[in-house]
Amino acid sequence: MATEQTETLGSEDSKWLGEYSQVHMNVFGTPLRVLDHGQGAHVWDVDGNEYLDFLAGIAVNSIGYAHPKWVKAVSEQAAKVAHTSNYFATEPQIRLAAKLVKLAGAPEGSHVYFGNSGAEGNEAAIKLAKLYGRTLPGATPSIGGKPARIIALTHGFHGRTLGALSATWKPAIRTPFEPLVPNIEFVEAGDPLALYEAFAQTGQGRYGKGPVAAVIMELIQGEAGVRPLGADYVKKARQMCDAHGALLIIDEVQCGMGRTGEWFSFQREDLSGGVTPDIITFAKGVAGGFPMGGMIAFGQKLSNLFTPGSHGSTFAGNPLGAAAALATIDVIESENLVANAEERGKQLRDGIRQCGNPLFESVRGRGLLDAIQLSHPCAHAAMNWALEHGLIVNAVAPDALRLAPPLNITEQDVDEAVSILARIPEELPND
Ligand SMILES: Cc1ncc(COP(=O)(O)O)c(C=O)c1O
Repeated sequence: MATEQTETLGSEDSKWLGEYSQVHMNVFGTPLRVLDHGQGAHVWDVDGNEYLDFLAGIAVNSIGYAHPKWVKAVSEQAAKVAHTSNYFATEPQIRLAAKLVKLAGAPEGSHVYFGNSGAEGNEAAIKLAKLYGRTLPGATPSIGGKPARIIALTHGFHGRTLGALSATWKPAIRTPFEPLVPNIEFVEAGDPLALYEAFAQTGQGRYGKGPVAAVIMELIQGEAGVRPLGADYVKKARQMCDAHGALLIIDEVQCGMGRTGEWFSFQREDLSGGVTPDIITFAKGVAGGFPMGGMIAFGQKLSNLFTPGSHGSTFAGNPLGAAAALATIDVIESENLVANAEERGKQLRDGIRQCGNPLFESVRGRGLLDAIQLSHPCAHAAMNWALEHGLIVNAVAPDALRLAPPLNITEQDVDEAVSILARIPEELPND
């Protein structure tokens, strides 16, 4: 996350960034630039410099900047009702919930909970899993049982609020805040035996641990460097969950909403092995830049565990966010952008493979969630070089660059990005 100022910072950028650091808590490091406006996949800073944006607000601006349908929908909704309490409902929120259930192919009786971010989607999922855990045999402390456990994976990222952080692996961001939510434990990502052993520890008596309420995972671990877990592993995880009555929670915050070439990553056989989750969480790209997130509980029985008072948020289902999301989904459908994500992703990965840059070891990903593996850990220098040359990408790991452009990126823009990437020098300083 931490960034370094690059050489060609303009005077307006410098002025605003000086003020930024006076009034903002230093959790993000110094921003690279102060952005002013955007159009499609292009964005301009306050000094008038133009950038081709292959990060899209970290997989958020799925239909690019200022899409006319999005602007119209948000403006019209703002002129009607921007917010209402949850004592009331609005048409956009109802239509959006129904649409998301349909896109996920979730069974009859599935229900949506809306929050405002990915972390909040996962908070809701963790709370629902906790309620579910209480229904499992062996989970009743008053008769000698143990509280149910939630299993998360090493390298997984689910957000920075305390519940979501408890399931987020990276020690540097988690351990300073411990103790966190109890009974959440980590197993090695991609290793079915580790998961098997965690399930096997379930049992009554002094040495047994509590039953497993849920396993939570991203099918492509985005923040870990865009690393797919492997379809076989996911399939085995589903089988173990079924055998032990545990829920499978798939975090679609970064992978979902068309980014990986299907509406949700679990719908890609080569990522999921064809499994169906019990809960998915979503955010980021869902509303094309408006803060929105949530979860879908698959089926009536699970959905029924939340009752009035179980959970909530003032802004849950906010009509502006819902209108933004409906417009985003409409654009993705009418412009065929899920298919475009698949095609442009292939073009991007092929272009990177063929561009001959000796700094690039390999490229991985699905659709438009991709990463370049670098031959040495110079990702921040590479990111800064690209920025100086008009391309926004991000150093997702010391030795990897993440590419996550808008889903409506054009063939020409992909070619342009590849031509800039091809010129990143090999001899850059390590991070
Ligand atoms: C997979 C995943 N889950 C959850 C989150 C948290 O989302 P937010 O930053 O909107 O809280 C992120 C954010 O990067 C993510 O990539």
